[in-house]
Formats: sequence, C-alpha cells, structure tokens
Amino acid sequence: MSDTSPLCKKSRFIMSVKQLISEKEVLEVVGNLARRIGRDYQGKKPLLIGCLTGSFVFMADLVRRLTIPVECDFMKVSSYEDRMSAGEIKLLLDATLPVKDRHVIVIEDIVDTGQSLTFILERLRSKNPKSLESCVLLYKESPRITIPKNSILYLGSAVPDVFIVGYGIDYAQNHRELPYVGYVERE
Ligand code: IMP
Ligand code: MG
Repeated sequence: MSDTSPLCKKSRFIMSVKQLISEKEVLEVVGNLARRIGRDYQGKKPLLIGCLTGSFVFMADLVRRLTIPVECDFMKVSSYEDRMSAGEIKLLLDATLPVKDRHVIVIEDIVDTGQSLTFILERLRSKNPKSLESCVLLYKESPRITIPKNSILYLGSAVPDVFIVGYGIDYAQNHRELPYVGYVERE
C-alpha cells in the first residue's frame, strides 16, 4: 500500500487516499471478468445495464475487453448521501432499452449493503428478461451486507470494510478520476 495524493480537507480532518488495488491489478480483474462473460454469452448479445455513477469507468473498460457484441444502458438510484434511511432507495434514472426477453447483466461498481443492487435486480426482473445476472467489481466485506456473495455470478475483488474511492468511485463526488482503487483515511 502506498501513500498517495491528493489530500482533501474535510472539516477539521485531513483525508488522504491510500492505494488498495493498483491500476494494473484492477485491469487484470476487469479482463478476467470480460473473458468469463465472453465465454458464457458466446453467440448472444447481452444488454449491459450500468449503475450510475460509480460504474462508468468499470463498464467502459469491461466492454472494450469483451469479444462479443453488447448493448449498453444505464440506471441510477439514490446514493448514500441522498438516502433518508438505510432501506430507502429511489430510482433517479431508469433504463430506456427494452428488457423483456433480453439477456441482461447489471454492472455495479461496489456492493456494501447490497440494497442498491437488490433494488435494481428486482425492478429488472419484473420486466421479464430472458436471463438476469450481475457483474460487480468490488464486494465489501461488510457486516451490513444483505445479499449472499454467491448470488453475484461475476464478482471482481473483495475489499475490506473501508471507504473506497477511485476508478469511478467517489467520496462526495471526489476521486472518481483516480486510475486505481483506493480508500480514504482520516489522518
Ligand atoms: P449498497 O446499496 O449499500 O450496496 O451501496 C452501493 C452503492 O453505494 C454503490 O453503488 C456505490 O455507489 C456506493 N458505495 C458503497 N460503498 C462505497 C464506498 O466504499 N465508497 C464509495 N461509494 C460506495
Ligand atoms: Mg454505484
């Protein structure tokens, strides 16, 4: 683990970002997920639905490593900061392409409680896709988790219960541009 900038001041505390998974390692993980999806969906054209905003970098790298054709769409649900309570998730942006009879793969950046992913899967399932799977880059080893690990068919890396940033993932809209996966630490 290496110490990296940028530093950001949050109230009285200095927050710094530490690297957890290097750019090279994260791209290897993405490449492996792409290979598995390519094998499993050979001869098919799945519809990938990315969960905004955090999954935009992951999805962009994933599709460019796929050897099968895909279609892409996006959904957005309320994030941590917007929620009034843990269970309250609101749909902010819905997918627009038809889902019925399609092979659908939900692309999520990180799962903490799993409530966002469960919400999105339930909504898509009600539209009768031919198949529905999820592809999650990071799975937090969190005591808050509500979905079993083995229900996620394409799973990248497990991460400890820290606040993850980088590779599209933010802390109050900061650090999405970092090419690696890191975590914020209060100094
Ligand atoms: P969940 O509903 O608790 O699983 O949270 C999922 C969503 O919250 C993810 O799609 C992320 O956008 C966000 N999230 C969860 N954990 C983190 C984190 O450690 N850093 C930044 N965002 C996170
Ligand atoms: Mg997300």
